Amino acid sequence: MTSRNQSTKSIGILGTGSAVPERVLTNADLEAMVDTSDEWIVSRTGIRERRIADEGVGASHLAYRAALKALARAGTKAEELDLIICATVTPDMAFPATACLVQELLGVKNIPAFDLSAGCSGFGYALTVAESMLKSGTYQKALVVGVDILSRITDYEDRSTSVLFGDGAGAAILGEVPPGFGFLATEIGADGASGGVLSLPAGGSLQPASLESVQGRQHYIKMQGSDVFKFAVRIIEEAANRVVAEAGLNMDDITWLVPHQANIRIIRSSANRLGVPEERFFVNVDRYGNTSAASIGLALDELAERGDLKSGDSVVLVGFGAGLTWSALVLKWFEGGRSGE
Ligand code: UT7
Repeated sequence: MTSRNQSTKSIGILGTGSAVPERVLTNADLEAMVDTSDEWIVSRTGIRERRIADEGVGASHLAYRAALKALARAGTKAEELDLIICATVTPDMAFPATACLVQELLGVKNIPAFDLSAGCSGFGYALTVAESMLKSGTYQKALVVGVDILSRITDYEDRSTSVLFGDGAGAAILGEVPPGFGFLATEIGADGASGGVLSLPAGGSLQPASLESVQGRQHYIKMQGSDVFKFAVRIIEEAANRVVAEAGLNMDDITWLVPHQANIRIIRSSANRLGVPEERFFVNVDRYGNTSAASIGLALDELAERGDLKSGDSVVLVGFGAGLTWSALVLKWFEGGRSGE
């Protein structure tokens, strides 16, 4: 848990942005690709369609589009940024970091830019790291982007994973907000011992790309879905309760819970366990599927865009993913920084 007493400075989100590809992959499309049905996908996951990036589009391109929108919303010029953190498991390439590619696209010079790998918890991890770097006073304005193009590492011959994933990016500009607003509590964590249930085995230093690795389909996501499901419902309940208590609030004080969008059944179970009406959970998994590190930023941006976030609203952002990792944050929304554009 990050102590709130290190500094008197309050750090919050000044503006959000998101970007998704145009191309839609529906459940009907998937019925023609693998042995599945719209009925199974909707009833087991809640997903109806997802967005798929065209060839030649990299994570940095979606991240850049989301960043531009977030900057406009925050009324911030790219030159004002002094930190860029990009959460992704599908960088354009192993290096340079996607954050550096975004920095170049934005035309910003001489600032730190780095990637962070925490699977679907990546956006919450990156917000937490950026918040503490800004709180220290060394940095003033940060761009945080969660972006993934999971379609590139999804096995479209495997029905147990191919129906789940989609592409997207979510961004936020972080800066100082008035006292009492911004991040009230944050928690990030990992259980490395359980990491084997969700992995991309090949393409790294342990199992570099080879004819065998490609023929063995080792460059695709491997997942034991029910193990991830059980972890998710447990950790969402535990971590959300801990951060809300740390913020000095009760669940009844929370206006919106914005969970990682993986499966409607995980969201419903979590609502039930936390005793929070489902209507207070933001849901867009039906339209985008699981977009990994993009999911929470994309959801938060849609919530803000449709005018459902008011200054002073308390919001819980909670995610889980590869690692296994989790992140949970309580945010007192501050509207003042947004341009309303
Ligand atoms: O963001 C973090 C990443 N991952 C997640 O969040 C995933 C979390 N897990 C889940 O969302 C769920 O576990 C899944 C949606 C992946 C799977 O749902 P489930 O209720 O756990 O199903 P299951 O894996 O236990 O499979 C039940 C049955 C199996 O058939 P049998 O063995 O009972 O005959 C599967 O073969 O459903 C079958 N199945 C399918 N049937 C039709 C699995 N995928 C499909 C499919 N279409 N696409």
